[in-house]
Amino acid sequence: MLPRCAFSVCHVFVLVLCLSSAEDFDWTKNDHSSFYYGTFPAEFSWGAGSSAYQTEGAWDKDGKGLSIWDVFSHKKGKIQHNETGDSSCEGYHKIKDDVNLIKELKLNHYRFSISWPRLIPTGIKSDHINERGIQYYDELINQLLENKITPIVTLYHWDLPQVLQEKYGGWQNISMVNHFNEYANLCFERFGDRVKYWITFNNPWSIAVEGYETGEHAPGLKLRGTGAYRAAHHIIKAHAKVWHTYDTQWRAKQKGLVGISLSGDWGEPVDISNQKDIEAAERYVQFYLGWFATPIFHGDYPQVMKDFIGRKSVQQGLGMSRLPTFSPQEKSYIKSTCDFLGIGHFTTRYITQKSNPSGRSSGSYFTDRDLAELVDPRWPDPGSEWLYSVPWGFRRLLNFVKTQYGNPMIYVTENGVSEKMPCTELCDDWRIQYYKDYINEMLKAIKDGVNVKGYTAWSLLDKFEWDEGYSERFGLYYVDFRNKNKPRYPKASVQFYKRIIGFNGFPNQREVENWRRKAVETCSSSNQLLAADPLTSHMEMVTEIVVPTVCTLSILLSAILLMFLLRRRN
Ligand code: NOJ
Repeated sequence: MLPRCAFSVCHVFVLVLCLSSAEDFDWTKNDHSSFYYGTFPAEFSWGAGSSAYQTEGAWDKDGKGLSIWDVFSHKKGKIQHNETGDSSCEGYHKIKDDVNLIKELKLNHYRFSISWPRLIPTGIKSDHINERGIQYYDELINQLLENKITPIVTLYHWDLPQVLQEKYGGWQNISMVNHFNEYANLCFERFGDRVKYWITFNNPWSIAVEGYETGEHAPGLKLRGTGAYRAAHHIIKAHAKVWHTYDTQWRAKQKGLVGISLSGDWGEPVDISNQKDIEAAERYVQFYLGWFATPIFHGDYPQVMKDFIGRKSVQQGLGMSRLPTFSPQEKSYIKSTCDFLGIGHFTTRYITQKSNPSGRSSGSYFTDRDLAELVDPRWPDPGSEWLYSVPWGFRRLLNFVKTQYGNPMIYVTENGVSEKMPCTELCDDWRIQYYKDYINEMLKAIKDGVNVKGYTAWSLLDKFEWDEGYSERFGLYYVDFRNKNKPRYPKASVQFYKRIIGFNGFPNQREVENWRRKAVETCSSSNQLLAADPLTSHMEMVTEIVVPTVCTLSILLSAILLMFLLRRRN
């Protein structure tokens, strides 16, 4: 997940704007009357996404090795309610069911990730390849293609093989570059005849910051001020290497594309007439998205990161910057290694300048930025604490990508909203609102000239939400985690998203309102279905356990009785 936890642990000041100061801001940005009715380009691709650890379950099945998330989630106190992804949605055993849901939505693409330790249990290719893992992804890919659904495949959605963590320190170690390249090469070799869209890394910001700086995510290291920068440095090199491998060894034959999926909140200056706030907001985005996008598109880190981290390192009395450097050869090797850019976007912050005192002991990713984050209390926040619905920020972020990185081909790889409801609720009106407004802002961005080719709703199913366990539900489909069969139920947003896909946009206000009304109408009957679920499970228990047991007992008793009668006759 994204920054919520980062805020609390690293003492970033999230200030809530007082209502009294509201007049200072241009609230018309949220004005719903500015909705844009129109259609997307004819070839636009609609999809939904998932990731291996969050949905597959089967954590120790069929020869899979341990990942850092298996180990992390089994440690007490790391995940809400000590939940784990051990069985999660049981996606490993439900390919057919899930492909049917994707068909039901009429999606053009499905984004999923491959679990590295399921294919290579130790992470080191020369050790052993797990053919049963290969078979699982083969089957998933084949079923998608049989149904004309394009697979978009992420190679790394956070589940590093545990052996690589224990042996080398994971992404702190440069040797990950070669191991990851070997693994990626195996995927190109085995699946590349059918997979044409590859994403090397999902959200490296989170891997680096939450995995190695705050320690809220696996592997749980708290290497303040250096860990995140070092991990990111190796991830960027690994991405570039894999892109070159594909380019030189596979592209001519397989004709696919290799990109990366970066996440980024938008940062808006608190006071747009204040130069310091403007610069702070720019810095926020550069430290987030730019940290990875600038090397990949232009060959080196954003100048502002080099300046700020360099200066603060000197003030700390360090001989060199905590931000590692690329050699000239590395810069040209890393530059332009992106066939398409994946964007994961959920929310926005207001940003203001705030200097952090520098001293010997200070220095962290968060304090290096010299800024404070603010939110408007009127922004809707139905689910995760960090996730405020601010649709206009999406359009700004997409335009930022266009101008900063030469209008690259973009696939939105994640966008969506969660709910925190403990009770079962399929009538997710707020999710309909979120999707409607965010997708509309993306449409406006396309009209602005941003080259967005596809959109991926996050996520297809409710699933394991990292350190939040199962408490935050992002799915279009509700998953009943209490039932061992993990049944899926459509939320109202399924019907609404389906209409957007069917029309390839938004026809007019009356029609869109109709979609919404109908979607909410159907969900009340699904709600009843779900409410009846405990009864269904009970019935299942009766047919699966009670009936066979009674039958067996009756046969046994009859046999004993028969023997008894026969004996008496003799
Ligand atoms: C980004 C992560 O890639 C994804 O796994 C997670 O579910 C979402 N953020 C929501 O937190």
